[in-house]
Amino acid sequence: MRWNSSITIATALIGLASTSSAAGTTVVQDTVTGFTFSEYLAPITTGSTVISFRIAIPSPATDSYDAVVQVIAPTSVGWAGLAWGGQMVNCPLTVAWANGNSAVVSSRRATSHTAPTTNPAATLQLLSTGTGSNGTHWQYTAKCSGCTSFTGSGNQVKNLNPAGGNRLAFAFSRTRPSGSSPDSTIAVHDVYNYWDHDFSTAGNADFEALVARNQ
Ligand code: HEM
Ligand SMILES: *[C@@H]1O[C@H](CO)[C@@H](O)[C@H](O)[C@H]1NC(C)=O
Repeated sequence: MRWNSSITIATALIGLASTSSAAGTTVVQDTVTGFTFSEYLAPITTGSTVISFRIAIPSPATDSYDAVVQVIAPTSVGWAGLAWGGQMVNCPLTVAWANGNSAVVSSRRATSHTAPTTNPAATLQLLSTGTGSNGTHWQYTAKCSGCTSFTGSGNQVKNLNPAGGNRLAFAFSRTRPSGSSPDSTIAVHDVYNYWDHDFSTAGNADFEALVARNQ
């Protein structure tokens, strides 16, 4: 069943490749928050439905730099997760779901293919500007400290390259967690997939000021 979903998505990706736009990352200037994001539109059906994954980082980026993530999802998405190491296990997972006109963000980690638990090594700060919902979509904007540098498989420190591409992964479930606590139980995903996200176009010289302005 999950395998079928992957095939469906792979087919969708092949379908989209010939018409371009959804393949790879593009640069988005978000007029609401002021951040410059690099954006990947992840197909989640064989149609044109996507989850938008946007990343902003400081420029210049120091060691273990913070990142701002903005995710825009259709209402059909119960929870959306971003895996910073490009796989489910041994990397920071940023999971979020709509909560009224706001969102719950939850920092998790998994050491096996079972429900991920709270991850104190990566902290999330929800930004109120850039977070909300309407009749068709919900979105959140959050700063993560600890998502771009982390202890991965085999206790090796992994640093995401601020000047190039990084393999990321996402997952989502149509089932929204019932709680507003970040450690709420989450249902297993319906779909997951991977992509190469260009961080070299995600730089913001005024990163800290933008975080402060949007919090
Ligand atoms: C209750 C929560 C979860 C359960 C029970 C679960 C379980 C699993 C299982 C059993 C697989 C293997 C599926 C297969 O081989 O076809 C898998 C794969 C995967 N999961 Fe999860 N998962 C959960 C949450 C998450 C979250 C929150 C994320 C990301 C934010 C995520 C990302 C992935 C990815 C990217 C894969 C592909 C294989 C890999 O990269 O390791 N999962 N999951
Ligand atoms: C609803 O929100 C999404 C995401 O922020 C946005 O793209 C869309 O234009 C909004 N729709 C309306 C009708 O305002």
